[in-house]
Amino acid sequence: VSVNLRKITKDNYRECIKLSVADDQVGFVAPNVRSLGEAAYESDVYPLAIYDDDTMAGFLMYGRPPFEKGNWWIIRLMVDRNHQRKGYGKEAMRQVIELIKQEETCKFIRISYEPHNEVARKLYADLGFYETGEVIWEETVAQLDIEGR
Ligand SMILES: CC(C)(COP(=O)(O)OP(=O)(O)OC[C@H]1O[C@@H](n2cnc3c(N)ncnc32)[C@H](O)[C@@H]1OP(=O)(O)O)[C@@H](O)C(=O)NCCC(=O)NCCS
Repeated sequence: VSVNLRKITKDNYRECIKLSVADDQVGFVAPNVRSLGEAAYESDVYPLAIYDDDTMAGFLMYGRPPFEKGNWWIIRLMVDRNHQRKGYGKEAMRQVIELIKQEETCKFIRISYEPHNEVARKLYADLGFYETGEVIWEETVAQLDIEGR
């Protein structure tokens, strides 16, 4: 797998909007068109496409969202239904964590998921996220502390 993250631009945003999850996953993540709308008008929110070589396979968004000023979040993560279970989600998470770590203000990274999203729960736990016990918008909150900060 040669996963790489790229900015959303005028050249690839239409393709990003066309990505979709499986029917039984629709409740787990907002549609990409909505996420791109948020990214366009909120400050400090960064949308990225997940590529395998030059093929767009998924989407993620990170930043310091307006609902929790100052804290770094991975706000969205999705891999297109036709590209799931190839390792893209996990590798994209590893890469975005490294990207966020470069922010010197970042002491921890937060993420949330539907309580019955077992694939997400395990994926994040494998990467070191622990559940904080908080619930935001009926979603379980998990956090990755950055060592030494
Ligand atoms: C969660 C999601 C991004 C994972 O993407 P992915 O590219 O399929 O994940 P990966 O291929 O990297 O797999 C990561 C692990 O999850 C497991 N996994 C992935 N999909 C799975 C499924 N449907 N059922 C069981 N296990 C699954 C993989 O086997 C792998 O396990 P391993 O690390 O022990 O080998 C993808 O399932 C998705 O888009 N889901 C819908 C949206 C969503 O839930 N987003 C997260 C919102 S918080």
